[in-house]
Amino acid sequence: MRERWTWRGAFVVAAIGSAVGLGNMWRFPYVVYSNGGGAFLIPYLVAILTAGIPLMMLEFTLGSRFSGAAPLAMKRVKPSFEFVGWWAVLAGFAIITYYAAILAWGLRYLWGALTLEWGADAGTYLYDKVLQIMPVLEAGAYGSLFGLSTSLIIPFILGWLAIFFIVFSGVKGLGRVVMITMPLPFILILILMVRGITLPGAVDGLNFYLASDFSQLANAQVWLAAYGQVFFSLSLAMGIMIAYASYLPKGADISNNAFMTSLGDALTAFLAGIVVFSTTGYVAYRLGVPVNEAIASGPGLAFVAYPEAISMMPVAPVLFGVIFFITIFTLGLDSAFSLTESVVAAIMDKFSLGRKLTAVIVSGAAFLIGLVFISRGGLLWLDQVDYFVNSFGLVLVGLLTCLVVGWGYGADKIRGFINETSEIKVGVWFDICIKFITPIILIVLLTLNLIDRFKEPYEGYPAFMQIFGGWGFIAVLIILGFVLMKIKGRESKYDSEEGEV
Ligand code: PHE
Repeated sequence: MRERWTWRGAFVVAAIGSAVGLGNMWRFPYVVYSNGGGAFLIPYLVAILTAGIPLMMLEFTLGSRFSGAAPLAMKRVKPSFEFVGWWAVLAGFAIITYYAAILAWGLRYLWGALTLEWGADAGTYLYDKVLQIMPVLEAGAYGSLFGLSTSLIIPFILGWLAIFFIVFSGVKGLGRVVMITMPLPFILILILMVRGITLPGAVDGLNFYLASDFSQLANAQVWLAAYGQVFFSLSLAMGIMIAYASYLPKGADISNNAFMTSLGDALTAFLAGIVVFSTTGYVAYRLGVPVNEAIASGPGLAFVAYPEAISMMPVAPVLFGVIFFITIFTLGLDSAFSLTESVVAAIMDKFSLGRKLTAVIVSGAAFLIGLVFISRGGLLWLDQVDYFVNSFGLVLVGLLTCLVVGWGYGADKIRGFINETSEIKVGVWFDICIKFITPIILIVLLTLNLIDRFKEPYEGYPAFMQIFGGWGFIAVLIILGFVLMKIKGRESKYDSEEGEV
């Protein structure tokens, strides 16, 4: 018998918990920042409406209707589609390997926050002390990039233990844990937001966040970033929502839950942006520099700019430091175990293995591979893999899902399922999004991005990293997807359930 959520609402809380994650607080603000500021919110919203919500409904339907994690659900849609499910799961697996590393940074900082260990120079703290990459690069001792960053080992182990035990405890356990890990960070974000906007200089930071450079809307990269961020932030195209929905009782509502999840996620990202930028405005004010100079680029926003701001806080800096990093950790935790669960569920389905053994295998493998990301060169690997998986992997899986299900199975049939059980009925727009709008946009984006990538290869990264962390990596995922499809599974246990579908 397939496991089931044990209380009404557990599913949507878990889905929101998965969607709302580091992507909202760590990724969203810097993606906005590097793609034209406030103007980015337009493509972002368009992406949510045309791709995010329809795909979310599609994934919810696949999971609940076909009672399986991504590969099995796809297989039941049509046997030759199984590989698409595996690609999703494998992309998810790739993400969890580095996502857990960032979770470890968060834990490391939580510890550091108790003593405001970074002092006034959070940049040096991150790169020298936590990641331990800078001294190696400066010395040109690239060989040492393979050593582990000693300060991340313990947090990485602790993070994985948490993920492992939660997944190990099954759907019942997941349902319990998300009662805390979903609402808690949201409440903490509200507290941090009030703190942020009442600091002097906050307005300048917010102007910077929301000031728009509309010329960026003509830039295809910006649109690609928007779609990539929507997939990442809504945990789409990784098999998660399919796995979670496969634990729903029959006849559960689809569209209502999809709207709640998508809009809840967007709202949280927007609020997290306010937290980060208002506080950055304060840093600029304190340093007497323009806001853009106070902003660390990229991943630095949450791990450099914000910690620096914390040390400057007029009252209770330790408290706000601790709150911030508890937020980061709890944001990331439920997303991390959702990713792990997607893989675990897929393997359980295919090989008819028990949950406990599968959890050990999947977490163990992800842990070992993830060591790459807590090595001293880990940041470089992380950048590469994050970029490739998000810009190509997820977009590709999203595209294929739309094509095979929308055309190969029938978007209208899926819509029929949705409307059978949902309070909010969906119209033909759903078919149009799944069959035309989303695929066309994704194809254009993928093509443009591929052309760009070949025109100007990534600079500043050693070639082997580009190969292993980029194309080579994507190639392995593609091949593995087919291999897994070809392997004969032992689905008897769940196949007998098919009557339930
Ligand atoms: N959606 C989560 C976030 O925004 C991240 C995530 C990505 C979770 C991929 C699962 C899978 O952080």
